[in-house]
Amino acid sequence: MTVTERIWWKDGVVYQIYPASFKDSNNDGLGDIPGIISKVDYIKNLGVDIVWVSPMYDSPQHDMGYDISNYEAVYPPYGTVADMEELIQACHSRGMKLILDLVVNHTSDEHAWFQESRSSKDNPKRDWYIWRPAKYNEKGERMPPSNWRSFFSGSTWQWDEHTQEYYLHLFAKQQPDLNWENPATREAIYQSAMEFWLKRGVDGFRIDTVNMYSKGTSFPDAPITDPGVFEQPAPGLFCNGPRMHEFLREMNQKVLSKYDTMTVGELPHTPDTAHVLRYIGAGDKQLDMVFQFDIVDLGIGKTHKYEYEGYQLPELKEVVSKWQSFIEGSDGWTTAFCENHDQGRSVSRHTSDLPQYRERSAKMLALMMCALTGTLFVYQGQEIGMINAPKDWPIEDYKDIESINYYNSVKERGGDEQALAHVMKSIQILGRDHARLPMQWDDSPYAGFTGKKDGAWMRTNDSYKEINVAKQENDPKSVLNFWRKMIGVRKEYKDVFIHGAFKGYDVENLDTFVFAKTHGKDKAVVVLNFTDKEKDFPRPQELGGKWELLVGSAEGIDGTEKLGAYEGRIYLVN
Ligand code: GLC
Ligand code: CA
Repeated sequence: MTVTERIWWKDGVVYQIYPASFKDSNNDGLGDIPGIISKVDYIKNLGVDIVWVSPMYDSPQHDMGYDISNYEAVYPPYGTVADMEELIQACHSRGMKLILDLVVNHTSDEHAWFQESRSSKDNPKRDWYIWRPAKYNEKGERMPPSNWRSFFSGSTWQWDEHTQEYYLHLFAKQQPDLNWENPATREAIYQSAMEFWLKRGVDGFRIDTVNMYSKGTSFPDAPITDPGVFEQPAPGLFCNGPRMHEFLREMNQKVLSKYDTMTVGELPHTPDTAHVLRYIGAGDKQLDMVFQFDIVDLGIGKTHKYEYEGYQLPELKEVVSKWQSFIEGSDGWTTAFCENHDQGRSVSRHTSDLPQYRERSAKMLALMMCALTGTLFVYQGQEIGMINAPKDWPIEDYKDIESINYYNSVKERGGDEQALAHVMKSIQILGRDHARLPMQWDDSPYAGFTGKKDGAWMRTNDSYKEINVAKQENDPKSVLNFWRKMIGVRKEYKDVFIHGAFKGYDVENLDTFVFAKTHGKDKAVVVLNFTDKEKDFPRPQELGGKWELLVGSAEGIDGTEKLGAYEGRIYLVN
């Protein structure tokens, strides 16, 4: 067993806030920083230690703030830098830390750096972004430098009339990629995006798309895996490039090492455990931990995420087991999460959001998450069991650039009704908007998120009268109070739950998930029923001993030996 060092960011529970949708303090329909400040006690009372705020920087909001036009300013409708200082203080004075999103693979095309870069070929900042001349095909037509497909559909290359070159954007065309090959660019990023906020007391960063800064300089075409269109998926060519680890070591050495910080990097398209370990070895000083995406990628389509294929329980068990165990014997650290602002809600994806099952489901998932090794991340609304938008919402009710662009691209390709229905079904499960619906505070209009007469910037989930904070506050059996209890259990038995070794049992079973956590002589077994039927569960022989119920998600409801629908339990084994 690995002896894991005890550090605040390992034992801490992180709560992610999406500023647009958390709490609107001035009734303009959009969440804001004063709104977050008004809820700091609520967050603290959940048992949270670290608050992570998604981008609140100035931005034209083509990608909800992940397109930053000024790292050193706050998006005015959200508030000011002074408001952020107050929020940092509000967290610190309650013994909580605060981390920000660090988005430095790209900026907004409205960032002053890009404005200069695109102004002329000989501007000193030309080389701060990635510019390339056109290619020409046999017919003499202008073509982009490579066939790469961007994450938000279409090419990664945007033609610039003014200077007659293409610039690279892995995401939207309003999100040009910074050129990390240039040391002056890196230095400016460190100063503007990092030091500026570290000096104001932030305790670290969730680092956006952390493995895309180095993408080589030759831009070869991607192999054709989606015939029929020019643009091809190319993550294999732009993720984990040749200088990635060098850049992260430099960022750590020049900036992070000067402060007591935590970093968690977003690490998509990296399935290999040895590869992930290269990012997180404590001795190597790059990142403290990463989000590896297998758990949230369950069932996604092969050619595009929104070609959903579905998955079965053994696949979920396999990915949980893989990313729990991979740090054993190393000096790396892992994360436990199943939601964020880019995902459908976990109750709707992995269990059942039908009215008769959704509370049970939310509690079972809470029990599972709180028993997992690594730093635990909870996404706003997860603690009350928020669910996906109803299936009858038309595409017009969705706002996210990723869903809308893909839907339109299938239409433009001549996709028939069936193809579009499949995309729609996929968006109903996976769409990023589900996590971005207004937080459900109470049963007043628009869920108490905003007092604006015609509602919030984004449609409120129809379920808010049944699922909201106020209703759950006073109900000892609510999802919210179960989360509070489970976070307490996690902290009380932190050796076994936060730092323990993981082992799955009966892995082929399609209905139940049984795993053990051990630490020294301490042993706990977690049993979960992922179906709406009563289920027996195996009691693995090798665990032996006497089983004593520690906590159950349906305690007092079912009370039988068998697991009820979507019930989870934890036993201590003596
Ligand atoms: C990350 C963010 C996502 C954003 C993208 C581009 O994946 O989580 O919301 O669209 O990066 O910055
Ligand atoms: Ca507001």
